[in-house]
Amino acid sequence: MKTLYLTNSDRDIQKAAEIIRAGGLVAFPTETVYGLGGNALSASAAGAIYAAKGRPSDNPLIVHIARAEELFDVAECVPAQAQRLADSLWPGPLTMVLRKRGSLPYETTGGLDTVAIRCPANETARKLIEYAGLPIAAPSANLSGRPSPTAWQHVRDDMDGRIDAVIMAEPCSVGIESTIVDMTGLGMAAEAAFPADDTLGGGAPSGLPLILRPGLISPETISEITGLFCGYDDALSDSALAPKAPGMKYKHYSPKADMTLYSGAFEAVKSAMENDARMLEAQNVKVVSLVYEDAQTAAKMLFADLRRADEAGAERILAAALSGGRSLDYSVMNRMLKAAGYKIKEV
Ligand code: TXA
Ligand code: MG
Repeated sequence: MKTLYLTNSDRDIQKAAEIIRAGGLVAFPTETVYGLGGNALSASAAGAIYAAKGRPSDNPLIVHIARAEELFDVAECVPAQAQRLADSLWPGPLTMVLRKRGSLPYETTGGLDTVAIRCPANETARKLIEYAGLPIAAPSANLSGRPSPTAWQHVRDDMDGRIDAVIMAEPCSVGIESTIVDMTGLGMAAEAAFPADDTLGGGAPSGLPLILRPGLISPETISEITGLFCGYDDALSDSALAPKAPGMKYKHYSPKADMTLYSGAFEAVKSAMENDARMLEAQNVKVVSLVYEDAQTAAKMLFADLRRADEAGAERILAAALSGGRSLDYSVMNRMLKAAGYKIKEV
């Protein structure tokens, strides 16, 4: 298949929308990472997405909408607190898991009765969904097992020849994927529909929102808006537990190089990394070192840096762990830990 490269002019976005309406696949920018979009209402489009990514089909896709009101097109019951989150945080990097409507095929939700919904802030993304006139199912536009793409060139590297089109736009401003919050535990109707031991793999604790994937939007923000305690899925800090978001069980984001995180006081970490890099280089080992000023920069750069390290043929990646207690540090560390296979050196 020859992949078409489009700009983000209105005319080209119309063309991309036409491709999606016809059942094709288009990669497009969002503020978090680039997405690989197809018609969320079509079982065969969902199947094509899994095939293009090489992704297991039990890993559900996120459904993207252009306006918060379109929530009702895909979700069956919307608890008041979910509505409040949509009103306050959409468009933006928040994905909510809710009970799905019957019209949404199980191919899109990986066989689940729930659906992950997101209303992206990126203008090109919103125009694409609006022009298509459909909800767009979109995982990150990387090959399964590669870091999420934060620039269109990353999409080209992974997907050229595998999808119909790529919209070439700016690099992503956030750089890590959206926060996923499970809202299925809220509201009378939801509780009746999902008793605690239902097929959801546990689902959110009854009555409370639960973060299944950390991102830019923090649990504190969600607590403030909903007035409810919001915690993280226990599996995020305990690799022996099964994560409630099916996709979180895969070892994502792993570079070809062997990666180690250095944890401790910043100056001590920097000098330990320098020493180790010198030692390895003396043995002709190709080393890439990653040190970020702050969590925002780390979020924006991490995936691109992991790809660059691979391209440079790095055998070892030495990275300074983020130590700030804030939620974005935690979110970036979640990705760094996976990339490093949880290998940490305390200094
Ligand atoms: O920022 C983002 O969310 C990006 C952009 C393109 O919007 N998308 C993205 O999609 O990261 P993907 O497919 O790479 O990750 C989706 C995650 C997976 O871990 C999946 O298991 C989880 O969302 N997920 C989807 N539907 C779910 C559901 N009904 N219940 C629990 N987890 C769900
Ligand atoms: Mg992904």
